[in-house]
Amino acid sequence: LAELTSAKAVEIELGMGNGLAMLERARVNPERLFVGVEVYLNGLRSLVSRLEQAPSVKNVRLAPMDARELLPELPKACVDRLLVPYPDPWPKARHHKRRLVQGGFLSACARVLKPAGELWLVTDIEAYANWVEEKMAAQRAFILQKNTQPPGWWVATKYEKKAIKEGRVPQYLVMTLRPFSGESEA
Ligand SMILES: C[S@@+](CC[C@H](N)C(=O)[O-])C[C@H]1O[C@@H](n2cnc3c(N)ncnc32)[C@H](O)[C@@H]1O
Repeated sequence: LAELTSAKAVEIELGMGNGLAMLERARVNPERLFVGVEVYLNGLRSLVSRLEQAPSVKNVRLAPMDARELLPELPKACVDRLLVPYPDPWPKARHHKRRLVQGGFLSACARVLKPAGELWLVTDIEAYANWVEEKMAAQRAFILQKNTQPPGWWVATKYEKKAIKEGRVPQYLVMTLRPFSGESEA
């Protein structure tokens, strides 16, 4: 945890899957610290073996745990970028409560981000993008911007490659902290 506050910049990827996209970003940004959070053990194992083959990459840390449990453990305002690439969509209405993005999750993200930090959520599922918009409308911490093109630093994940191959269109949703959020309005 001390590293999170001492690092020049910190990116945390929630539900990183096989983590190859994060590894690629870590390679080209050795001055930034990258933390991959994942509950899927095979994904974690595959990244660990890649890291063993790339000893020059020293800026990756892994958190084999539920992202919702990790966020409250982190110091306040220590993260530059939080990424949620292709979260599980849970399409059935009775499973919507399992979706990662909920009001409490957004508040937990807002707490750990630096004032100029960003939360990126990328999805190829229109219903999930709409869900995020609904949750965003119900809170005050973040401002949402929707993009159909990835930012320059973005590296396609396994799910993104599959989505594009199958003709689905990714949406890149970026949430930035509202200036002075938390202050009462006159
Ligand atoms: C659809 S996959 C996308 C994987 C990867 N981000 C990609 O784009 O290729 C969603 C991933 O999120 C992970 N996941 C789901 N809920 C999670 C949670 N609460 N904490 C950490 N990881 C989670 C799943 O294990 C799965 O690997």
